[in-house]
Amino acid sequence: MNDLAPLVQDAEADFAAAALPAELEDAKARYLGKSGRITEQLKALGALAPDEKKARGAQINAAKQQVEALLNARRAALAQAELDAQLKAEALDVTLPGRRRGTGGLHPITRARMRIEEIFGSMGFDVADGPEIETDWYSFTALNNPENHPARSMQDTFYVDLKDADGGWLNLRPHTSPMQVRYARAHAARHAGAATMPDIRVIVPGRTYRVDSDATHSPMFHQVEGLWIGENVSFKDLKSLYLNFVQAYFETTDVELRFRPSYFPFTEPSAEIDVRFGSGPLEGRWLEISGSGQVHPQVVRNMGLDPERYIGFAFGSGIDRLAMLRYGISDLRLFFEGDLRFLAQFV
Ligand code: PHE
Repeated sequence: MNDLAPLVQDAEADFAAAALPAELEDAKARYLGKSGRITEQLKALGALAPDEKKARGAQINAAKQQVEALLNARRAALAQAELDAQLKAEALDVTLPGRRRGTGGLHPITRARMRIEEIFGSMGFDVADGPEIETDWYSFTALNNPENHPARSMQDTFYVDLKDADGGWLNLRPHTSPMQVRYARAHAARHAGAATMPDIRVIVPGRTYRVDSDATHSPMFHQVEGLWIGENVSFKDLKSLYLNFVQAYFETTDVELRFRPSYFPFTEPSAEIDVRFGSGPLEGRWLEISGSGQVHPQVVRNMGLDPERYIGFAFGSGIDRLAMLRYGISDLRLFFEGDLRFLAQFV
C-alpha cells in the first residue's frame, strides 16, 4: 500500500459508475488521459532526485497497470451487457414451428360448377353468364308467368326498390331461366336473315335468390340452366343428354333417372328430374335435382323464334344440390359459412 491506493480505488468506483462505453471512455481520460491523475503523477517524477525516481516510478507503474486492468474488465463487462440486452431484445425461438403460408383452394360449389361446365362443354354446349339483378319481364313475363302467379309474390322473390325502363320491378333473379330468353334472343338476332339457324345449346350456371332459409335452402343459391332449341329437338334428347350428364358428373353408371310430371309456366310438358343411386350411402332413394320440360311455345315466341319451326327443352338444376350429393354433405349452410375446417377438405 502506498499513497496511490485511493487513486486506484477512485478509478474503480468511477469505472463502475459508467453505464455506457462512452461514459467509461470519459472516466478513463480522467486517469490515463493527457492530464489524467496517473499522467500527472508521471510528470511529477521529473522533479524527484534520481534515487527516488526509480522506486516512485515503479509505484506509479503498478498503479497504472491496476487502473488499466480495471478499465479492461469494465469494458468487457459493458460489452457483455450490451450483447445480452441485444440478444434479449431480438429473442428468436428457433424451436417454434414455422408459420405456413396457407394454400388457397376452390370452393366446393366452384368445383361442382366447373365440373358441370366441363361435361356440358364436352357435349357441345356453350357456357353463358347473365345478370343477377333482372327485370320483371325476363324473370317472369317472358317465361309465361301470369301476372298473379305465386312465383312473383314478395314471399318468394327479393325485389329491388327500383323499376326498369318498362315500369317493372327489378328483382334478384329467382332462377337462371331468364337467361333462356336473353341468350336465345341474342342467338336469334345473330342469325337473323340466315336460311338456317344453328341449334341453341347453352348452359348458364350462376347465383339465384329466393326468400328461403333452412338446412336445404339458402336465400342465395346456385342453379345451372340448360337450353337446347332446334328444329327437331325432343324430350328424348333431354333424357339421354341428362343421363349422360349425371353419369359423367357422379362417375357412375349405377344411377337411374326419373322424370316426374310437374308444372312450370314456361315448359309444357314439365317434369322434375330425380336421381337414384344403386349403391352408396344414398342407395335406393329418389333425390330431386332439377326442373325441366319442353319449352312452351309462348316462350319460344318471346325468344324471337317461330314456335312452329323451333322446339326444344330446358332444365334448371340445383348446383348446390349436385355438390351436396357428390361430396356427401347434408347441410347446405356449410357452403356459405366460410369455415376453413370445412372448406380445407376440398383443397
Ligand atoms: N326455373 C325452374 C326453377 O327454378 C327450373 C326449370 C328450368 C324448370 C327450366 C323447367 C325448365 O324451379
